[in-house]
Amino acid sequence: MLKNRLLTFLVLLFLCLKVSAQSNKLSIQVDKPIAEIQPTMWGIFFEDINFAADGGLYAELVKNRSFEFSHPMMGWKEQKFDRFSLNKESGFTSIINHGDSEASGPRFARVTTHAGKGYGLTNEGLRGMGIKKDMQYNFSLLARRQEGNVKLRLELVDEKGTVLGETSISPTENAWKEYTATIKATNTEAKAKLNVWFEGKGVVDIDMISLFPQDTWKQRPKGLRADLVQLLADMKPGFLRFPGGCIVEGRDLATRYQWKKTVGKIEDRELIVNRWNTEFNHRPAPDYFQSFGLGFFEYFQLSEDIGAAPLPILSCGMACQFNTAELVPMDELDPYIQDALDLIEFANGPVTSKWGKLRADMGHEASFNLKYLGVGNEQWGPHYIERYKVFTKAIKEKYPDIIIISSVGPFPDGELFDYAAKELKDLNAEIVDEHYYKNPEWFLENSDRYDSYDRNGPKIFAGEYAAQSVATVSPDNKNNWKCALSEAAFMTGLERNADVVYMASYAPLFAHAEGWQWTPDLIWFDNLRSYGTPNYYVQKLFATNKGTNALSILSGNEKVNGKNGLYASAVWDKNSKEVIVKVVNTSDKVQSTELQLATKKKVSADGVMSVLKSENLDAVNSLDNPTQLSPQQVPLKLKGKAATLSLPAHSMTVVRIKAS
Ligand code: AHR
Repeated sequence: MLKNRLLTFLVLLFLCLKVSAQSNKLSIQVDKPIAEIQPTMWGIFFEDINFAADGGLYAELVKNRSFEFSHPMMGWKEQKFDRFSLNKESGFTSIINHGDSEASGPRFARVTTHAGKGYGLTNEGLRGMGIKKDMQYNFSLLARRQEGNVKLRLELVDEKGTVLGETSISPTENAWKEYTATIKATNTEAKAKLNVWFEGKGVVDIDMISLFPQDTWKQRPKGLRADLVQLLADMKPGFLRFPGGCIVEGRDLATRYQWKKTVGKIEDRELIVNRWNTEFNHRPAPDYFQSFGLGFFEYFQLSEDIGAAPLPILSCGMACQFNTAELVPMDELDPYIQDALDLIEFANGPVTSKWGKLRADMGHEASFNLKYLGVGNEQWGPHYIERYKVFTKAIKEKYPDIIIISSVGPFPDGELFDYAAKELKDLNAEIVDEHYYKNPEWFLENSDRYDSYDRNGPKIFAGEYAAQSVATVSPDNKNNWKCALSEAAFMTGLERNADVVYMASYAPLFAHAEGWQWTPDLIWFDNLRSYGTPNYYVQKLFATNKGTNALSILSGNEKVNGKNGLYASAVWDKNSKEVIVKVVNTSDKVQSTELQLATKKKVSADGVMSVLKSENLDAVNSLDNPTQLSPQQVPLKLKGKAATLSLPAHSMTVVRIKAS
């Protein structure tokens, strides 16, 4: 009995000691907003890295559907064919490189079959095909009958070869024509394949062999993967930056992103290699190409769907400076500048204009309301500044309202940064794009980065950032709670400085669990499943609690910026009439905090808290445990205009309180 009491006493003593002795007081000036928060404040950075587009967001299941990969049969396997035998027993495929304007791309496949024996092509998908039981799959291809009568039997099979569903198509026309059919899957399989069997005797030409699930985002035919878009929509992002990232620049100029080649009919979009395919020896992906089925029209449409301002970034005539650093001579920049002007017309121009008409023909008569345009991605040095000047002059002359985003290089400090920051300030740049890939300690130490920032300089776009648990581009980086917590602390500093910070986005966004090159990433997925990392939930908590005006939040006379491991920011939401407070406790102690609202408004007695926490700084989410670390809602009782918060160790807490 005595032993039990002693034990209880010791446990209580331990718990008391864990609760920090000092009590923190946070006071918020609710009636004196200090800055307007831009609707764009928290957004999304999209780049086709880690199989984010083909094999990810773009729901096409067939790899190399048009035989345009550098090896034309990559992703395809012939069935029942001895390619080294002159006695081609059941059939064979020839790759034709043609000048036929009615087909897509330079190549198509010509299949010759001999009756009876059976000949087929199997497509392995992009790391397999994710197939769901009872789901309908839309098959399509372009085909042209050459000789005889060949019937195509299409089978979805699992890894063991068991048929999950089938259908057939008989190309009857001698001209290219699209044929479609639907397959219903009888089972769920993450690594399915598609068999195309050619039955009968004859010759048939085939191209653009395609398979899409019907449950795409908004059920759009040949659209985007619904679960992945939903994760983005749930963030309520203020903007969508696309298409990157270094992919904008290309390793060389030939492989830069050219938006005009990504719009119009899908079969006419010229496929190119993905610049991330063999960038890192530790994660080579030689089969990584860009089909551009997800192109600029689709990016604009996605932005609109999820309520995000579109933010395209264009090549400024400089290839990636970490790779070839090729430059377009200054007197040959015109086509690049024209691309920028034409893009604005494509997004906003009247349907009577050349590019506005294309937008309308693609199904969007109304303007996409483009307001922001990035000139170059992660450029640095005098070559950039001179190109930036020419682009800006041309764009502003024709479209004075377009806000231009410029680059201050790949690092948040140092010679390159200082040079660009000074030049761009002197040039009255509007918004500069800063990148921080740093360790978690840097994020904590730099949460006051903008407290003393020049209020007369350009506004800030924190365009790419992520805490690196090991080192930048290390394949061992983890999306763990330590990193996410440090980003949360840093983001309170961005929010406190909303008068200069106009936009921020974590990078990169997506990673296929088997196809990634770069880690950490915000959202991970495989062929069937997806999940948000702890970093995702931090981003989501900020973005869904954005508010409209920043408020002053002080502890005594000091900013809440690291003392006792606490970081805090506060906003007012004029639409919902709520005070929203974000407090990050990076210490390993529970901390008691008095929250006081200085206001003439009537404060509700009931608030609500969203708490994201883990005592384990190494904690991660995973495909099998996707929401292990995700916010929990807890009610909060107020006494008058004050409340006591108990902030768990290693936690982020968002408090919402009505005040009218
Ligand atoms: O986010 C990954 C890469 O990091 C981006 O493509 C580039 O802009 C930066 O270096």
